Amino acid sequence: MKLIVAIIKPHKLDDVRKALTDRGHFGMTVSNVEGFGRQKGRTEIYRGAEYYYDWVPKVKIETAVPDEFAEQVIQIIIESARSSKIGDGKIFVLNLPCAYRIRTGETGETVL
Ligand SMILES: Nc1ncnc2c1ncn2[C@@H]1O[C@H](COP(=O)(O)OP(=O)(O)OP(=O)(O)O)[C@@H](O)[C@H]1O
Ligand SMILES: [Mg+2]
Repeated sequence: MKLIVAIIKPHKLDDVRKALTDRGHFGMTVSNVEGFGRQKGRTEIYRGAEYYYDWVPKVKIETAVPDEFAEQVIQIIIESARSSKIGDGKIFVLNLPCAYRIRTGETGETVL
């Protein structure tokens, strides 16, 4: 299993969610975060306003997927989160040794 962590522009969240669910991928955790990339946060546009702050608002998506679907999910996120402007974000992929469904106690890929 892989844990896919995507940092995206907040206004792209609905597009990413729809793109993933339309293709049959369900289950994600979302957080509002702040960060900066190589522009050091200086010149980004957010909701029409230019941000000169050190920290730019972003959304973090975390979704756990079986290995066989990881590449597809990554490509869907890239396509649906892209505006082709600076600050579109990053995707980090982590190996995920195990997962549990709390209600049943089951473990393995069937919990995803
Ligand atoms: N090396 C990193 N480690 C952790 N988080 C990062 C890293 N780089 C970027 N991020 C996160 O991703 C967000 C978006 O980064 P961003 O898209 O600006 O990256 P970039 O490398 O500057 O690319 P671009 O030139 O397209 O802007 C940042 O605000 C930060 O939250
Ligand atoms: Mg940047």
